[in-house]
Amino acid sequence: MRVQPTAYVDGLITPLEEAKIPLLDRGFLYGDSVYEVFRTYDGVPLFWEEHFDRQEKSASLIHMPITQTREQMLDAIRETVSTARVDDGNDDPGEVYVRFHLSRGVGPVDLFPDPQLKTSFMVIVKPVPEWNPIHYSEGLQVAVTDVRRNSDDSLSPNIKSGNYLNNILALAEATSKGADDCLMLNASGELTEASNSNVFYVIDGVVKTASRDSGILDGITGQALRQISKEADWAIEDCRLGLEDLKQADEAFVTSATREVMPIRAVLMPDGKKQEFPAGGGGLTRKIAASYKQFVTDYSRSNIAAKLW
Ligand code: PDD
Repeated sequence: MRVQPTAYVDGLITPLEEAKIPLLDRGFLYGDSVYEVFRTYDGVPLFWEEHFDRQEKSASLIHMPITQTREQMLDAIRETVSTARVDDGNDDPGEVYVRFHLSRGVGPVDLFPDPQLKTSFMVIVKPVPEWNPIHYSEGLQVAVTDVRRNSDDSLSPNIKSGNYLNNILALAEATSKGADDCLMLNASGELTEASNSNVFYVIDGVVKTASRDSGILDGITGQALRQISKEADWAIEDCRLGLEDLKQADEAFVTSATREVMPIRAVLMPDGKKQEFPAGGGGLTRKIAASYKQFVTDYSRSNIAAKLW
């Protein structure tokens, strides 16, 4: 199988690079939109219900009534995926990356979020991203940035919106410092997350991560780890963490739908010092990464009915 990058925009399916949206789309004009990303495993969309739930939560946080039903959105996703997957005779299973996007719709150039507007629905289907293998064999280098995470009471990080400028600015700063990704602090100087993944630390044998009230996106991969931990000999603690806690960490990793569990090799601290972690992840990180892979395999076996093809 070959996966041809393909888009769906309000009923029209085209090759991704040919897809067009109206200039008056509020997602374009104001970032007034919400989106989600999942990938398939054996054709099964991982945690797709949780992604729809989170999309609804994001939409409700921006007071955006959704015009499309979940079934209509899923049908559009299925149709886009089936156009994207081309049988070229090779034995690649053709797993897909799916990004689906709800914009408040097309309206006048006016900030007022008219509740009468009809939301537009868009889908991007591509091959699953292939990360630089060094990011798994060695790990990511992240830099603590001067750019702080949006505070919860101004633009909640739990709104997974079409405006990622906060994350883009932090990522730009981090890459200018030679890192692969950022590690943002909140306004109080506590640890939050990376540009598009959550961050976990192993401190005194316990897995710790920034609590939701630190101002992070509540990641679905992280939620899966919490579920896995219930039957494991390790636990996850959600807490407010500072740079002093980070200095005590023995291991660190990020999680997201596309990165899964990816080790952090080093953190560039604000004082210019580098905090290093074991190459390829320490013992617990490796164990958690393997457990996540097993969990995902079990999930796709038991959710075969949701297969997209
Ligand atoms: N990003 N934090 C942010 C800011 C994110 O954008 C994401 C997801 C996460 C991890 O969430 P999850 O485990 O549900 O993927 C945390 C996706 C992958 C993206 O925007 O491409």
